[in-house]
Amino acid sequence: MEVSHNIENHLNKLAIFLTRHLNHIHNLPDDWRDHYDNQNFTSRLERGQERLTSIIDIIARPHLKVVFVGRTSSGKSSAINALLNEPILPMGLGHTTSCFVEIRGSNQNQSWINIPGQEGTLDQRNSERIITSMNELGNALAEHPLQPDCCIQLFWPRSKAALLEDDVVLMDTPGLDVETDFDSWIDQFCLDADLFVWLMNGESTLMMREKAFFLQVKKKIAQPNIMVLVNRWDVASEEEEYWIHAAYEQHVARTLEFFQKELELQVSKSELLERMFFVSAKEQLEQKLAPGSTVRVSQDSLPSVKLLEERNNDWNRFLESLRSQLSCAYKGHRYLPYLDVGLDLARDIRDANDFVSKSGSEFITSKEHEIVKLNATMNDLEEHMEELTKELKGEVQTML
Ligand code: GTP
Ligand code: MG
Repeated sequence: MEVSHNIENHLNKLAIFLTRHLNHIHNLPDDWRDHYDNQNFTSRLERGQERLTSIIDIIARPHLKVVFVGRTSSGKSSAINALLNEPILPMGLGHTTSCFVEIRGSNQNQSWINIPGQEGTLDQRNSERIITSMNELGNALAEHPLQPDCCIQLFWPRSKAALLEDDVVLMDTPGLDVETDFDSWIDQFCLDADLFVWLMNGESTLMMREKAFFLQVKKKIAQPNIMVLVNRWDVASEEEEYWIHAAYEQHVARTLEFFQKELELQVSKSELLERMFFVSAKEQLEQKLAPGSTVRVSQDSLPSVKLLEERNNDWNRFLESLRSQLSCAYKGHRYLPYLDVGLDLARDIRDANDFVSKSGSEFITSKEHEIVKLNATMNDLEEHMEELTKELKGEVQTML
């Protein structure tokens, strides 16, 4: 907690310096400001300012948030149900999840939902309602039709799902292809995710809508942490071996290209494969519901059994990786990408300051008094930035 406070303080200071810098630039004569803008300082610093605001919010939040996203029917709700070991979230063909559902651990033995804005319409004291099955949750939602931009909270006993023992929040989301304004979704519910689980449909390829979502997230938080579940792999596995292999390679190649070229993430193919899993959420849930039972395979033949085993192994690898990501996050690694963004921004501000002190006199010779005033403030600011950068670097070192 101390680490997060310290970093939060640093980043808050950075935000103050940045605002001061931008205010100064804004107050300078137009001809000089055009010269400054030509160096792209304004766009870089304004984007940095937006990211900083988002990052400070994430760091200030005590729990870790894992957001499940993907197209309609890609299996988001099924995957969360498999993680919770029960079919609690409604699943089905077509557009099923109509609003955001946040699942939190509870120390009580019963589960309940909380629908914001519905106070008084439900039978409980507040807006709470006890839930014991998927049908009850479905009924509760049907009684109170919700807009896609609404978020209900589902409290689930920690004793039933090991993953919720830590302070983790899982978020189920409506399909990305549902007509909704991305920007407001991301701002309201997804922006502060520590981790995105991207449910990809194993039978098809990446869609523009999914890409657009992550590009939007990238704009806001710079380096989204993404795990990829290529789901419905049981269906894809019914194809001939050659086609299964070709589909696998295509998923890997297209995702890698998207991560490297469009999201500009520093990730190699082997690193991507460590966070990419070819699974069947449906089978996992079926196995949880009837432990020891053998999941149906399309043909009772050795290749099908082998493919089922591979999907099971990938699911277990996903669980291990998810747990390890969450535990690393608790140890402070969660802050490293955000510190990097802070350090980059500190450097950008320093470059902009350098530019102002070096070129300011050439451009506004007739306004000597302004230059003197500006340079004094910038020197002061630069000194603080140096200090801040050193402290931030020290912070990173102690965490490694
Ligand atoms: P929306 O809430 O509508 O966006 O869908 P979703 O992404 O939450 O998908 P959901 O979990 O509701 O699953 C959609 C349908 O696909 C259901 O009928 C599931 O049983 C089925 N399904 C989910 N995962 C798999 C899978 O891995 N394999 C197969 N064969 N079916 C699956
Ligand atoms: Mg759903």
